[in-house]
Formats: sequence, structure tokens, C-alpha cells
Amino acid sequence: MAITTTDRQTSDPERDFPVRRISFEEVIDGLDADFAAHDDVLMCHLVAALSGLFPDGEQMFIDAVKHYRDEVTDPDLRRQVNAFIGQEVTHGREHRRLNERLAELGYRSKMVEESLQRDEVMTPGMMRIIKVATRFGPLRDVGRQIQEDERYEPEPIMLLALTAALEHYTATMAEMLLTEPELQQRFADQRFFRMWAWHAIEECEHKAVAFDVYRAVGGDEATRRKAMRMATLALAFIAGYHTVAGALRDRRSYRRAALVRSVWRNRNNPLFSRRLRQRLADYHRPDFHPLQHDTTAIEAAWRRWLDDDGPRPDAAAA
Ligand SMILES: [Fe+2]
Ligand SMILES: [Fe+2]
Repeated sequence: MAITTTDRQTSDPERDFPVRRISFEEVIDGLDADFAAHDDVLMCHLVAALSGLFPDGEQMFIDAVKHYRDEVTDPDLRRQVNAFIGQEVTHGREHRRLNERLAELGYRSKMVEESLQRDEVMTPGMMRIIKVATRFGPLRDVGRQIQEDERYEPEPIMLLALTAALEHYTATMAEMLLTEPELQQRFADQRFFRMWAWHAIEECEHKAVAFDVYRAVGGDEATRRKAMRMATLALAFIAGYHTVAGALRDRRSYRRAALVRSVWRNRNNPLFSRRLRQRLADYHRPDFHPLQHDTTAIEAAWRRWLDDDGPRPDAAAA
């Protein structure tokens, strides 16, 4: 795959991906609370927290990219922007539906989703933790900043930089899901796994779009990296808080020491692995571009499975 350094705004004019007309309504309606393998309560609540973040997070991505669409003059990047928006609209719709079902099953997905629609993303419980954790030591500045930034309204270019950074997160987690059997096996419900694999395939397909738009409109390096630090802090804290709070309030956690076993099991979770952290950290390199993490073969193999009913790729094929 060629990463061009010409005057094109797209990094790869050949890159083409569809807006799939797909619905998981049946899977969602029939979803059971125990969708993770081995009574893994932490995995269940992590999945619910992530799903809670998607609809409004993805709406923010769409708005951030749309704001600059008129400055995209390269017809191939324009086409990719439109496909990106189409894919994210579908993700938002399906995850909003999923969040409702997960909420019926006792998860915090809807609470997470609604918190993003208010000015105060932080729940009172989160603010208490921040106050205690940032009273002393190196986190003191972070605490001050969070309290000052409660009404922080980022400029459009910062929103685009945050979008590019968070797209690097979704693409990296997606790559993990599509390449790590250890992560795939954590889903007990295979039809539910298919929904997450669909989202993961599309995150890989469109991972360069927001980044290319950011570069095309002259976004600078300092803002790009600052956005990545902000995205990391916000994502780790919000997803981490709701995962732990959800698991602690879940009665299943206390049956046969399920929570303790789940903590132990998650020490091997690829989503917390060194491999994932290293791939995320690549974003801070000055010459970084999302297509340097080449997933074209992985995407092709999984597309055959999703779109053409082909065999499910194994780790070796991916
Ligand atoms: Fe998405
Ligand atoms: Fe995305």
C-alpha cells in the first residue's frame, strides 16, 4: 500500500470501503446478560462501557470531520470522508439500540451514553475519585486541569485532532479483536461477536480518514499529540470507572468469587497488553500515520467472512 507524499490530500487514493446496510436488531433483542465467556464480569462491563461511549462519541467524530468537509478538495478523500460518515452513522444507530438492551440487562451503557450528552460527563462518584487521587503528587496538576476544564469547549481543530486520536484507539482495539484469538474467545455469544467484528472491520477500513483530513486542513503536531494525551486520559478514566463501578454493583460478581476470577483472567486480556500499548504509543511519533499499521490483509480476510459468508479467518490468516 502506497502512502503518498504528493499534493494529494488522501494518503491512499485506492482505499475504498463500503457503507454496509446491516442491522443487528435480532442479535441485540435476543442478547443474554452472560455474553462473555467464563463468567467474566469485568469483560461484560467493559464491553457495555465501550458501547455506551460509541453513539455520541461517533457523532462527535462525524461533526468534527463535517466541519472541514468543504476544505477537502481531493475527490478520493471526499469519497472516503463520505464513507467514513456513513459507517459511523450506522455504528451509532446499532450501538444506541445495543445500549438500550444492555441497560435492560442491568449494564451502565445507557448511563454512559447519556453522560456524554450532558455538560458534566463526570458522575459525582468520578469527581470524588478525582478529588482524592489528585490531591497529592504528580496527579495534582491533572486534577486542577480537569476541574478547570469542566466547561472546556474545544476549538473545531481540537475536535478534529481528538477524532483522529480516538480513531487510532478504535482502530488499534479493532486490530486486536481481529488478530487475537485470546480476545475473540472472550465472547461466549458468537452472534454478538459478529457485531463487534463488523464494527472492528469498519474501524480498520476507515482509520486514516480523520487523520488525513486533519493533515489536509493544516492541523499541527503539538495539537495532534496533545489531543492524544487528552483522549487517553478521558477514555481510560471513563471506561475504567464505569467498568469497575458496574462490576462492583453486579450480583454475579459475588457468586463463586466471579469478580476475583475475572480480575485474574483479565491479566491476559489483549486489550490491556503491552502490544496494544505500544501500538497506541506509536501515535506520538512525529512521522506517524495510521496506515503504517498495515491491516489490509486482515481487513480482506474478515470482509470475505462478513460480506461473502466466507470462512472465519483464524489467527494465522489474519
Ligand atoms: Fe465506529
Ligand atoms: Fe471510527
